[in-house]
Amino acid sequence: MKNIPVSVEWKNNKLYLLDQRKLPEDEDIVVCEDLKEVIVSIKTLTVRGAPAIGIAAAYGILLGLEHAGLEEINRVFDSRASELVNARPTAVNLAWALDRMLSCQKANRTNPNIYQCLLREAKFIHQSDRESCRAIGENGLELVRKHPNILTHCNAGSLAVSELGTALAPIYIANEQGNNVHVFVNETRPLLQGARLTAFELSRNGVPCTLISDNMAAHIMSEGKIDIVITGADRIAANGDAANKIGTLSIAIAAKYFRIPFYIAVPLSTIDCSTISGSDILIEERDGNEVTHFRGTRIAPPEVSARSPAFDVTPAELIAGIVTEKGILRPPFPRAIKDLMA
Ligand code: MRU
Repeated sequence: MKNIPVSVEWKNNKLYLLDQRKLPEDEDIVVCEDLKEVIVSIKTLTVRGAPAIGIAAAYGILLGLEHAGLEEINRVFDSRASELVNARPTAVNLAWALDRMLSCQKANRTNPNIYQCLLREAKFIHQSDRESCRAIGENGLELVRKHPNILTHCNAGSLAVSELGTALAPIYIANEQGNNVHVFVNETRPLLQGARLTAFELSRNGVPCTLISDNMAAHIMSEGKIDIVITGADRIAANGDAANKIGTLSIAIAAKYFRIPFYIAVPLSTIDCSTISGSDILIEERDGNEVTHFRGTRIAPPEVSARSPAFDVTPAELIAGIVTEKGILRPPFPRAIKDLMA
């Protein structure tokens, strides 16, 4: 998106990450020069959003290896990949990107130009994500044209990927082509990815949007103001169950009640056929301070503890379709996913 700073960039063997914790006030860049810095950046959500984490990890595993010999790269690669993959457990794009990097390293283990091959692979992962997002946008365009009043949750836009987004991609394209679209943006407690990031992106690009707090969504649906819900996902299991930002499940349940179609938009790298169903997805549990505190200020009594599961799982039966770069998957998802991935 022309008006949005890129979230991940590789320049001169360094990784440049837009610090998404500081948006929308500041557009700071964090420069990672070693593995530890990129792991901390993923854990602390400097870089966040499933595809963006995968891209950052693909480059991040290479940090500091530009002058390393073949032997050193082969010696450290597995342990670097395991350190990175543990940074965040739910978004499968992280493991997917690292698996690709590991396969590339194994295939080139005797190649003196191994570093260049690995860097080419990371750039390929980055470029493929750009192409997937564009195709998701085009494949979802008709849905948005037919259902111009959209609700989204969290941030599945340009900031969460290489560019354009997943859930927001069809919306950007529809808006660019002059269709009247309007997006209700859930603020997305506790870390406000909706308010800070999605509302920032949409308004910067001239897409009409209205911010609501998460607990308003069902009410706005009851007013007949929402035609469709579209969100991203962090992992889709083989049966179509989808893990996404905490709060997605309650929107899907409300959408079902009000007969509003609920769609997920993802690249194929988010579909994990080795995970049988949603109950097999590990949900990241973050520090309860994210709930007891608001931007550094305590908002709950000191003796109260809190939980902060970062994601929830929406069962496949609540999902009308999954928009991918290869088209829209429809129920029954186990068959549709199997056919697509084959
Ligand atoms: O904790 P976050 O901000 O990384 O969570 C992000 C989401 O839940 C997104 O909806 C998901 O990663 C899809 S991004 C295209």
